[in-house]
Amino acid sequence: MHPVTHSPPGTREALQGRSPLEVIEYLTQTYGSIVRYSTGLGDLYVIAEPEAVRQILSNPEKFPRSQVLAVALGDGLLASEGAYWRQVRRLYQPKFTPAHLAEYTAIMVEETVALAERWREEAASQGAVLTNAAREMMRLSLAIIGRTVLGQPIEDPDYRIGDIVTEVMKYLGELGSTFGTRFHAGQNRAMRRAFHNLDRLAEAIIAGRRQKGPEQDLLSVLMQTPLSDTGEPMSDRQLRDEVVTSLLGGHETTGIMMMWAMDLLGRHPEVQERLLAECRQVLGDRPVTFADLPRLEYTRRFLDETLRLYPPVWSLVRRVAEPVDVAGFRLEEGAHLMVSAWLIHRNEALWPEPTRFDPDRFLPEAVAARPRHAYFPFGLGQHICVGQHFALLEGFVLVAELVRRFRIESVSPEPPEPLPLITIRAKGPVPVRLEPRVA
Ligand code: HEM
Repeated sequence: MHPVTHSPPGTREALQGRSPLEVIEYLTQTYGSIVRYSTGLGDLYVIAEPEAVRQILSNPEKFPRSQVLAVALGDGLLASEGAYWRQVRRLYQPKFTPAHLAEYTAIMVEETVALAERWREEAASQGAVLTNAAREMMRLSLAIIGRTVLGQPIEDPDYRIGDIVTEVMKYLGELGSTFGTRFHAGQNRAMRRAFHNLDRLAEAIIAGRRQKGPEQDLLSVLMQTPLSDTGEPMSDRQLRDEVVTSLLGGHETTGIMMMWAMDLLGRHPEVQERLLAECRQVLGDRPVTFADLPRLEYTRRFLDETLRLYPPVWSLVRRVAEPVDVAGFRLEEGAHLMVSAWLIHRNEALWPEPTRFDPDRFLPEAVAARPRHAYFPFGLGQHICVGQHFALLEGFVLVAELVRRFRIESVSPEPPEPLPLITIRAKGPVPVRLEPRVA
């Protein structure tokens, strides 16, 4: 058994002012792939060891989720554990089967094409349009999750929902930086207001959905189906938790993936040309459908590589429920631990030249040569993202519908600086120039 290295006293003070990504990089590069770090509010193991990732994420009894996300998500599927989690997961899963994904594709295409048409009109006078991919991709993802999972178009022309979600993410990020050791949302008035706005938003979405009457979207199914423990359908509070889960866990994450995808498209014209060639060859001029996905191989590799370099969920925080040995290390009860896709996805031993963007890292032979747990943008084990195929589908539609219509260029010379809250956003806007392609 190896002893876990403790970072020496004074480390926290020495790291003050650095971003959480820099802190975890420094700790694991300096002290080894499993480090124990004193946060001042409790101890945290930072994990950058693929075998440990597997053991931890596949064992929620020994490593339950921390309470940070529950501050906003309550008992939502992304924050719960145990019997309640299991019965709700069973309600979600049938809504993400291929048959449903095929239906969602048409809606995704409609929303993406509507955005492309708007851009084309705006570009008509100047030959190109300059846009902020950060905001536009979040809006697109909200429009899609509204019409699919939440069963209703969400009218929000000024994208106020984005501001509410951003505020909440900011506070969750702050709470998260205490690594789950301090987790009440009542700490200041601004934070309370942000959570209050989130509650009102969820209530409005639930009320909007009730007005429409029962159908087959996820929210409607959650409203109708009796839970196995109570025999009653979800209460308003439980529904609120699931709506917030969709807004934060589904809309925000997917919007962020698409934002980084747009920036990377703009920075890598040679990749964009290959994507264009593939889309033209497989699709010609027609819209993408679910059945086309297996033949869009390079597009899939592009999306995988985007999620490697910028995993929207950069860390998963768990509690150590009992003393336990992991990958040859002893972990002490009561501490928290952070499993980080950011660290593993940028580990030089697994990913040579890790900061280089290269979709061909995901050629089948390259994938087969790596340990399976070298890549987990959607988590692993029983909590693996229920919406992963939905999110990837949105990525496919984005690429297929946009690269055939526009030449996409990044405007700023340097890549955006990552802003790690609960998810990895970009600091500031992500300006992208779109020039319509002539057929
Ligand atoms: C690029 C987009 C997305 C990323 C990167 C992402 C990432 C993740 C990750 C890392 C987890 C594991 C959490 C854990 O182990 O604690 C997760 C779980 C989850 N995700 Fe996603 N997600 C994305 C999109 C979506 C979408 C579109 C939805 C819903 C429509 C969704 C709903 C959920 C839910 C409900 C869980 C909890 C699953 C469970 O514990 O059973 N996600 N996601």
